[in-house]
Amino acid sequence: MLDYPLREGKALRPALCIATCRALGGQLESVTRSAAVLELYHNAFLIHDDVEDGSEKRRDRPTLHRQQGKAVAINVGDAMLALALEPLLDNMRLVGIGPALRVLQLVSRMARESAEGQALELGWIQDGVWQLRDRDYLKMVYQKTAWYTFVAPMAVGALVAGVRTEDTHRLWRLATLLGIAFQIQDDILNIEGDEANYGKEILGDLWEGKHTLILLHALRHATAAERAHAEAVLRKPRPPERPAVGDAELPTDELVAQLLQAGEISKSAAARLRWHLAGSAANASATGGFKTELDIGFLKDLVSRAGSIEYARAVARRHASKARASLARALPWKRPSQHYDFIGHLIDYILDRDR
Ligand code: FPP
Ligand code: MG
Repeated sequence: MLDYPLREGKALRPALCIATCRALGGQLESVTRSAAVLELYHNAFLIHDDVEDGSEKRRDRPTLHRQQGKAVAINVGDAMLALALEPLLDNMRLVGIGPALRVLQLVSRMARESAEGQALELGWIQDGVWQLRDRDYLKMVYQKTAWYTFVAPMAVGALVAGVRTEDTHRLWRLATLLGIAFQIQDDILNIEGDEANYGKEILGDLWEGKHTLILLHALRHATAAERAHAEAVLRKPRPPERPAVGDAELPTDELVAQLLQAGEISKSAAARLRWHLAGSAANASATGGFKTELDIGFLKDLVSRAGSIEYARAVARRHASKARASLARALPWKRPSQHYDFIGHLIDYILDRDR
């Protein structure tokens, strides 16, 4: 359970939750449990998301399921969600029953929104849906990212500081704008970021067939033939995970022979493996096979020719500017305050960040 939390992450959600609470005059001790809960949820979401997306890399290292297998990874995520309940109960003692229940209500909505946003995206991938407008993407991102990254952290910070739920509607708009700008920047980094800083697999979104604003724009600007080819590519699964020790370069027969010779598998296991692998190769070629480097190059070129990154960058900037303009009036901030300034700087960071 300590694996992802101990990898170098941004700790954006707890930082934002604490800064919001403090900038409204709340106490640090009153908000730390709630902030920790948000980080626990985040790590659990990432573990499950990595399994669901078949991702290879997280925070500069192989994803947990690549290291430990899917069963262990899913259980670690579940355990984190279970652990998040107790600090929420501690809130009763720390901030009183009323605010503690309001925080619980928000966390419960956050979990629902995140799962619904994820369901939307997984459904599009599963059903090969690509006829989507920007507003479909924005709704999905509002639920999948904005809710748990900005709406919940800021709203929880505000509730703990004593703001009433009915006085947080301006904050919700601000947090939604920030969440959308944040996700679009993430999509941009996935294509043109520097792998050493980004911490995730560059071009992973194309391999995973993610429905980003960038790709939707590129598809809209493609010719009918290009679009048909792109959709066929996107429907193909990514190739199975590459084994860590260079086995990928070996022909299957040779790998099985080596494993047999080294006593790592029995004769009957070798026979069963050969039979199974021959079957999956036939199956893969019948369905058009897996995505290839050439396919990803084609998608990348489509994106570049359509100017889709520039388009996405402009949309992200527009959202961030609106957020910047609405910050001062979003909540009854106590100023001057380093915590308020932190939130202001965060708006620039969302677009300037390289990881
Ligand atoms: C990452 O998006 C998406 C999330 C972190 C949200 C995941 C949500 C769930 C797994 C739902 C879980 C719900 C409950 C209640 C347990 P991404 O794949 O675009 O980002 P990435 O590039 O960082 O992987
Ligand atoms: Mg993912």
